[in-house]
Amino acid sequence: MGKRGIEILDLDVGKLIKMLNEALCEEWLAYYQYWIGARVMEGPMRSEIEPELLLHADQELNHAVMVVDRIIQLGGEPVLSPTDWTKFSRCDYEAPTDPYVEAILKQNLNGERCAIQRYKDIADFTSGKDHVTHQIATQILNEELEHEQEIEDWMIDLDRMKEDLKKLKL
Ligand SMILES: [Fe+2]
Ligand SMILES: [Fe+2]
Repeated sequence: MGKRGIEILDLDVGKLIKMLNEALCEEWLAYYQYWIGARVMEGPMRSEIEPELLLHADQELNHAVMVVDRIIQLGGEPVLSPTDWTKFSRCDYEAPTDPYVEAILKQNLNGERCAIQRYKDIADFTSGKDHVTHQIATQILNEELEHEQEIEDWMIDLDRMKEDLKKLKL
C-alpha cells in the first residue's frame, strides 16, 4: 500500500495482518467444510439444503478474496500453503464422517459461530483506526450472521418434521 495509506492506520499493522491471515485460513476451511459436506450429505430436505450449502461455500470463497486483497494492500504476505490452513485457523475443521444432514449442519453451524467471533474481533480491532478493513470485516460479519440464521432455521424445520412424524406414528 502507498506510504500515506499505511501512515493513516492507527494500529499495529503486523497484528492486523496476522488476524487477517488466520481469517483467510478459516475461510478456505469453511469453503471445503460446506463444499464436501453438501456432496456427502444424506437425509431429509437434502435437495433443498444442498444448493444452499454450495451457495454458502461460494460466499466463503468470496470472503477469502476480500481478505487476501486487504492483506496484500497492507503490505503483508498471505498464507501461501494449504498445510498452514489448519495450523493458523482458530476454527476447527470437522471431517463430515457422519453424512446425516443434521450432523453436517451442526458442523457448519460451529464454523459460522467461530467466523462471527473472528470478524467481530477484527471489526473491534480496526474500529475508528482502519476504516477500510473495518468496512470489510463488518460486511463479512453480516454475511456470516445470515449464514448462522439460515442454518438455525433449517435445524428448526428438521426438528419440526421429526415431531410431526412422531405424532403420525401415535
Ligand atoms: Fe466466511
Ligand atoms: Fe459463513
